[in-house]
Amino acid sequence: MRTYLVTGGAGFIGSNYIHYMFRKYGEQIRIINVDALTYAGNLENLKAVEELPNYTFVKADICDKEAIAKIFAENDIDRVVHFAAESHVDRSIRNPEVFVQTNVLGTAVMLNCAKAAWELPDGTFKEGKKFLHVSTDEVYGSLEEDGTYFYETTPYDPHSPYSASKASSDMLVKAYMDTYKFPANITNCSNNYGPYQFPEKLIPLIINNALNGKKLPVYGDGKNVRDWLFVEDHAKAIDMVQEQGRLFETYNVGGHNEKQNIEIINIILETLQEMLPDSDPRKALVSKDLITYVADRKGHDRRYAIAPDKIKAEIGWYPETMFKDGIKKTIAWYFENEDWMKNVTSGDYQKYYNEMYK
Ligand code: NAD
Ligand code: TYD
Repeated sequence: MRTYLVTGGAGFIGSNYIHYMFRKYGEQIRIINVDALTYAGNLENLKAVEELPNYTFVKADICDKEAIAKIFAENDIDRVVHFAAESHVDRSIRNPEVFVQTNVLGTAVMLNCAKAAWELPDGTFKEGKKFLHVSTDEVYGSLEEDGTYFYETTPYDPHSPYSASKASSDMLVKAYMDTYKFPANITNCSNNYGPYQFPEKLIPLIINNALNGKKLPVYGDGKNVRDWLFVEDHAKAIDMVQEQGRLFETYNVGGHNEKQNIEIINIILETLQEMLPDSDPRKALVSKDLITYVADRKGHDRRYAIAPDKIKAEIGWYPETMFKDGIKKTIAWYFENEDWMKNVTSGDYQKYYNEMYK
């Protein structure tokens, strides 16, 4: 039985990945999820798996060397899948330090603890051990309006404190691979959407605001472009890279689905109108009149677009979920999980929202 140590598994992508892995491998794998449960971590995301005998949750900070070393000492870890991070660009602009702390120093702790547990006296590593570092396309910076793409060979050029901290963490992983031949891979993925995404990110924020008849804040001219990927496709890519990818390689993961923010908002409004029955009082609230242009994000990257050619050619992964289907699945999930949304938007979220959008 293979043992996975997943960091940040109570967050958006991590929890989707854990669900995906249990669906795919069932009792053939064991997952230990280590998460500090920051504002972004939510154990409700894992309700369906929490009773499984092959699932364990450990509440710990990845910067806490002793706590992480203890997990490695007590378990024979075969795979690390490292999601834990501060992940929101707007928060990084307001408070960069915690991004350096978690994303850079936390990654250093994870690498060191894995290295200590897996290294043999001759400096090679135990057979079959693998570390996967989950990163973002934002490390490559910003593209012009169209025609160009991020490849694995594109030089790093991060602009926000978030992307700079993720770029630093990628560099550390690369340094471990180059220096120690540490068995790792890096994936750089485009924007994800899907169930369990915290409503500080564009898509769940727009869905939630529209259903409540609240303004829909559009930064700048609304024409910034992101390449959106359904989260389950990302989970699948991570597993395929770890099992079929060449060690020490980076793989870009993307949706082939570039859209301007304003297009995304219009699609969400149209899909909500289509999916809500006439009898639902929220239907009358959902309206394009809610769209409100607000001040632009500082240093706002214009366009991100991934060319996922390498992962397709080498591993056979491609984005399976068309946006029109993925967004319907996502909206259906938010309809079915109104309590989840109510819980995460109570308390601190209101404070964040008022400060951010005042
Ligand atoms: P998220 O913010 O939803 O979840 C992050 C998780 O990490 C939370 O559960 C949080 O509690 C945990 N965490 C934060 N600090 C921690 C610490 N110090 N110790 C332990 N746990 C801690 O983020 P996400 O959107 O699920 O992103 C996961 C990873 O994927 C991140 O590394 C992010 O950079 C990367 N990524 C995200 C996207 C995206 O569109 N969301 C795209 C590409 C890559
Ligand atoms: P976001 O979901 O924060 O992801 P990222 O910044 O990592 O790409 O934002 C996606 C895009 O949507 C980005 O161009 C910023 C824009 N945006 C808005 O226009 N309004 C909002 O309220 C938010 C949260 C984002």
